[in-house]
Amino acid sequence: MISIKSEREISLMKKAGNIVYRTHKYLEPYIKPGIETKELDKLAYDFITSQDATPSFLNYEGYPASICTSINEEVVHGIPSNRKLKDGDIIGIDIGACYKGYHGDSAWSYIVGSVSREKAYLLEHTEKALYEGLKQVKPGNRIGDISNAIEEYANNHKLGIVRELVGHGIGTNVHEKPDVPNYGKKGTGPILKEGMTIAIEPMLNLGTREIYLLDDDWTIITQDGSPSAHFEHTVVVTKDGYQILTGDDNFE
Ligand code: MF3
Ligand code: CO
Repeated sequence: MISIKSEREISLMKKAGNIVYRTHKYLEPYIKPGIETKELDKLAYDFITSQDATPSFLNYEGYPASICTSINEEVVHGIPSNRKLKDGDIIGIDIGACYKGYHGDSAWSYIVGSVSREKAYLLEHTEKALYEGLKQVKPGNRIGDISNAIEEYANNHKLGIVRELVGHGIGTNVHEKPDVPNYGKKGTGPILKEGMTIAIEPMLNLGTREIYLLDDDWTIITQDGSPSAHFEHTVVVTKDGYQILTGDDNFE
């Protein structure tokens, strides 16, 4: 069963999503050459806890930090460390916050200093792929419509689609039903209904789609070493479309 959230639950998810959005905005000016990713993690922890919330990922299945910081060929789940960001890097920052039992989840990829045209292309089109998926969110459409829109967009831009990791329902758990793959067929999968809350999160590579898990058992990298980007929003299905809960149009 895919849960339908009540008005009360949606207002708590708006609050959680807004905290995630403001954590991204708080970190953004610090994303510069020379900063260690564990400093970003500390800033995020302090900000989230100052908002009466807790970092959703800390201790999640044993995950050892508050955020994920994935640099260049790292796709997702990079663990913050004493590694310093360098000019020309790209970094995916994935943030979750739990407010009164409800989660918000959003990842964004950022440039560090100035980056190559190829990396800029990857970021531009991974973000656009997310928005192509979002456009399909409305009651009566199916999960496969979202998946297919992302797949088509990625294929048209010659980007590799990571298949092993998917978007997801979200609410009192970070990961709920349904899965939201970044590839699939139109008109297939669960039907979207008003009050469902889902996280959509394309992970696209400049090279091929294959990935590899590092020995730390968390960090996922591209097999061919090509850069990877990740953009994610949590949204609620509304009467005639969707509202992004982790963006700047949610002020509640
Ligand atoms: N944000 C990830 C997701 O979108 C979850 C992070 S998993 C963790 O599904 F283990 F790092 F917390
Ligand atoms: Co997610």
